[in-house]
Amino acid sequence: MRFRGNAGPEAGIRYSGEPCERLEGALVANHPRGIQKRRLPGKNLRESRYVIQARNIVLASRPEGAPTLDNFRLETKRIREPDRGEVLIRTLWLSLDPYMRGRMDAAKSYADPVEVGGTMEAAGVGEVIASNDDRFRAGDFVVGRTGWSSHAIVETRQCRKVDPDIAPVSTALGVLGMPGHTAWVGLNDILAGRSGETVVVSAATGAVGSLVGQLAGRRGMRAVGVAGGVAKCAYAVEKLGYDVCLDHRDPDLSKRLEAVTPEGVDCYYENVGGKTLEAVLPRMNDHGRIAVCGMIAWYSGEGVGDAMPLPRMWRTILVRKLRVRGFIVFEHMDRLGPFLREVGPLVRSGEIHYRETVAEGLENAPEAFLGLLEGGNFGKQLVRVGV
Ligand SMILES: NC(=O)c1ccc[n+]([C@@H]2O[C@H](COP(=O)([O-])OP(=O)(O)OC[C@H]3O[C@@H](n4cnc5c(N)ncnc54)[C@H](OP(=O)(O)O)[C@@H]3O)[C@@H](O)[C@H]2O)c1
Repeated sequence: MRFRGNAGPEAGIRYSGEPCERLEGALVANHPRGIQKRRLPGKNLRESRYVIQARNIVLASRPEGAPTLDNFRLETKRIREPDRGEVLIRTLWLSLDPYMRGRMDAAKSYADPVEVGGTMEAAGVGEVIASNDDRFRAGDFVVGRTGWSSHAIVETRQCRKVDPDIAPVSTALGVLGMPGHTAWVGLNDILAGRSGETVVVSAATGAVGSLVGQLAGRRGMRAVGVAGGVAKCAYAVEKLGYDVCLDHRDPDLSKRLEAVTPEGVDCYYENVGGKTLEAVLPRMNDHGRIAVCGMIAWYSGEGVGDAMPLPRMWRTILVRKLRVRGFIVFEHMDRLGPFLREVGPLVRSGEIHYRETVAEGLENAPEAFLGLLEGGNFGKQLVRVGV
């Protein structure tokens, strides 16, 4: 029996049992007792036992301020077989997200930090190459917590199958994945945006913001985007349907925002903090709502010193009677289904637009991540790990 593709020869693993399926790169059995390994001709079992060499990017050291390439290291590790309720995935696409900056720090957040020497956290889309769960078969595309890794063992209760007929599988990390879900929850459930209202969206062309703007337009809201640079602002208006988009690097941002929001701002979809928040807060209408989704401008501690004084901010919240609500999408998993049912068909039909910025190869993930923190991405930042 010949194996094709990366995983087979690289893996040197065969699994026996009935029924069997031959797929690109691996032979996997859905056996009632789970996966069973068969000795390869000419090799003894011990030699062939752990032969997948996973490449991982690990956290080499904690950053002080803005991270650098020195904070990351590429390592190779032998990967074990999947236990019951687990699958072995060959990563195709890796998602890079701003939250990863927080995981590099030791400080406690809503999630545990990555240990120094540990693999950087991430969601990835991959192909199952070995399964120890009857519901998953070799060749299935899944999205799960792969980490910054070429291969990963993932618990099946933490992964979801991806249908390549709806959209390219990479979208399960962007417009049809966690960022899209975040956009949908933030606009519908946190802001409860209504037709006729004005919403300001920061990081307006990013993975989250690009969907917020389009959904806001579809709900009859007036959408004002804030993004970095002329090209992103033009794309926001021409492709994403924002009514207007302002450059956050413009020193006159506050004045420009005032000019384009003559009736004030009802909803602010907050992704960045920093100067953008300072410009938006004074424009908030009475009983306005703010969805605090992210504050990327402050993730590495820059600009915190010259931020708006807390008493002034607090007073604005009081006198405008604002409702400010932070949220983390992982607490809204019950809304994943409704989100996918609404947005999936719109992506499939081409009514919802999305962009992806792709870095080639796992080894280039650190550089792409540093770029993301400074606006180097245009749309969802991905890494193509496999083909
Ligand atoms: N609460 C949750 O559950 C949740 C879930 C997902 C994401 N988030 C948050 O949502 C935000 C957007 O995430 P995303 O995945 O969609 O990222 P993204 O917008 O695709 O990429 C990050 C963007 O942030 C902008 N940015 C960076 N530094 C900035 C600064 N100093 N001032 C203004 N803008 C800056 C850059 O865009 P420009 O070039 O336009 O400046 C950059 O492209 C992040 O804060 C993230 O942490 C929260």
